[in-house]
Amino acid sequence: MNAKQSCFLFSLASLLSLGAGQPQAAESQTTGPVANKLVIHADRGKETINRNIYGHFSEHLGRCIYEGIWVGAGSPIPNTRGIRNDVVEALKRIKIPVLRWPGGCFADEYHWQDGIGPRDQRPTMINTHWGGVTENNHFGTHEFLDLCEQLGCEPYICGNVGSGTIQEMQQWVEYITFDGVSPMADLRKKNGREQPWKLRYFGVGNENWGCGGHMTAEYYADQYKRYATYVRNFGSNRVFKIACGPNGSDYRWTEVLMREAGRQMAGLALHYYCGTGRKSRSATAFGEEDWFHQLRSALRMEELVTKHSEMMDKYDPQKRVALIVDEWGAWHAVEPGTNPGFLYQQNSLRDALVAAVTLNIFNQHCDRVKMANIAQTINVLQAMILTDKEKMILTPTYHVFEMYTVHHDANLLPAELQCADYEVGQDKIPAINASASRDKAGKIHVTLCNLNPNAPAEVTCELQGAKAGHLSGRVLTASAMTGHNTFEKPQTVQPGEFKAFKATEAGFTATLPAKSVVALEWN
Ligand code: AHR
Repeated sequence: MNAKQSCFLFSLASLLSLGAGQPQAAESQTTGPVANKLVIHADRGKETINRNIYGHFSEHLGRCIYEGIWVGAGSPIPNTRGIRNDVVEALKRIKIPVLRWPGGCFADEYHWQDGIGPRDQRPTMINTHWGGVTENNHFGTHEFLDLCEQLGCEPYICGNVGSGTIQEMQQWVEYITFDGVSPMADLRKKNGREQPWKLRYFGVGNENWGCGGHMTAEYYADQYKRYATYVRNFGSNRVFKIACGPNGSDYRWTEVLMREAGRQMAGLALHYYCGTGRKSRSATAFGEEDWFHQLRSALRMEELVTKHSEMMDKYDPQKRVALIVDEWGAWHAVEPGTNPGFLYQQNSLRDALVAAVTLNIFNQHCDRVKMANIAQTINVLQAMILTDKEKMILTPTYHVFEMYTVHHDANLLPAELQCADYEVGQDKIPAINASASRDKAGKIHVTLCNLNPNAPAEVTCELQGAKAGHLSGRVLTASAMTGHNTFEKPQTVQPGEFKAFKATEAGFTATLPAKSVVALEWN
């Protein structure tokens, strides 16, 4: 399982070969060992990494909303108007920029008027997608927008196309944003909110190729135009309308949507889950083959974003329409003994690497990718936070989001990476993955991943077009590739100071530990 020293250029062509899951031979003719080398062009940064790439997703699913966020004002768990204080504080530390809600599949059977008014009078419903449990609608529009205000993040609401009406969608936006006298604004005031909220991001349906109505691309494109027409801008509020985009590699869906409805949308939403291991679906009991398989699947995001962007370029060469990856992440088997419909999974160092490489990919594509929302914030899928009644732990994925806050709204610095492969059997992937940016204060940040769990990696970095200042670093790793945090041992995987580097005239040399995420900063 050694990393074979071959050359891998961080070029589109090379990375595209990863997407198919069958990496082609590396381009280099080099026969001997090749040094890992990163060249950062500090004078060529053109694009801004939209902080919304570091966005999140919270659905009425399992224990994400109820227990994870909402405990109710009468709960002994410290809360503000029913919303957990510990969770809000933790999410503020990762500067959560935007939160998508209420689904997911749930969005296309959610009727928002059931979730307003006195809580004890709200109707209940069956959450048919997720465990068949009774939804009491105690967390609705006011509670979600209160959460966003407490977090200081932008709300991103997904409307119901699958089983809702156009009028219902139109009235929801009026209820939230209309500043004046109108039936919906008056209802909002009656329910305790005098001032309208600002609502920028609005999704017109979710996965309408699947749980959102099993529509064809052509049918949905027409439906999108009908529904989106009535999503109005009231007062100074401007809605950024997001259409349901493709499932993984469905490039035809992107083509039809861009051709038929591209002019009516501001964003197109791609969904891609990178699955789990091949032999084991467990989040924490897996071997190296599963580690490799999972990371190779995560790297496939490069191919998807590249090819969907190319398709979008065909109809929108000015890149007006954003690619919004509003569901992504790892999807393991649920933890033993938990409700299979609740999608509760643990989160290991492997998930941290999934997050780190995916975020590096989004950074690299920030000319087209303007938002992404990992699924899901708390207690569901690749979560930031796990809760058990009053207890809360931070996952390895949370720590990656915290380390990567330095990239929020920073200027992407183009970089070339030449690196060894990490091989398992006949398969290989690039062992290293990176992105670089310059923040508003002028500091330069480099985030690097060593995907090889067996060997450290020496990397030489050359900074071109800027003078290297004082260098410091942080690292996230664990003794085992399955390392994870539990309620008993909440700090098994957490970032520490990184010292294995040497500043050089041109940049630095660093030794990335096996299976690690490293963030370096030049002051
Ligand atoms: O995130 C879980 C589910 O995955 C969402 O509800 C759905 O949109 C997707 O299939």
